[in-house]
Amino acid sequence: MADLALVPRQPSAAGWDTLRDEPGPDTVRCLGLYAKLSAGVTVVTALDATGCPTGMTVSALTSLSARPPLVLACLRGGSRTLTALCDQGAFAVSLLTARQKTVAERFADASVPPARRFDGIPVRHVLGLPVLADALAWSVCLVEDIRLYGDHHAVVGRVMAVDVNGGRPLLWHDRAFHTLTGAREV
Ligand SMILES: Cc1cc2nc3c(=O)[nH]c(=O)nc-3n(C[C@H](O)[C@H](O)[C@H](O)COP(=O)(O)O)c2cc1C
Repeated sequence: MADLALVPRQPSAAGWDTLRDEPGPDTVRCLGLYAKLSAGVTVVTALDATGCPTGMTVSALTSLSARPPLVLACLRGGSRTLTALCDQGAFAVSLLTARQKTVAERFADASVPPARRFDGIPVRHVLGLPVLADALAWSVCLVEDIRLYGDHHAVVGRVMAVDVNGGRPLLWHDRAFHTLTGAREV
């Protein structure tokens, strides 16, 4: 870090900006960095054009603003859930508990048709959107903004309804599921 602070941000006489013009790490190295992030696991749900529920597992979800209440989700281009929430202008987010690992796996399985992913899972409809009834917490959002960044879309949702239950969160770290068993504050 100390060395980085010394990097001149002015382009050189030859027009070379040290930070901007470096080739940067390759995709594999960046994915290695992303794998070291720890995140809660969620299921983002929406209704498709025919009114059928669809949903996918998402770990790239974060709080964005408290006033107004906004969340940010990053969804890959081509995702059926992304298409549905774009079409309908609304989506829901269910934060999974440690007991819902199989739910996370099913909602990430491209071979399972979106509507079948809900089979046997208790669902509630809130403001017309499906939320997973046994979730740690859920929210229903109106799409505030969608922007394409590289191979993902940044979806900003304005929170219209929210509920928080108890339980331990399901976490995603180093390409594996974890929970907070035995975790202490440090
Ligand atoms: C733990 C976990 C986290 C994931 N997080 C994301 C994510 O943040 N964004 C994303 O686009 N895909 C994510 N995926 C992959 C999607 O869940 C997967 O591509 C899914 O099949 C997409 O479904 P759809 O095309 O029907 O919308 C994740 C998968 C797993 C297992």
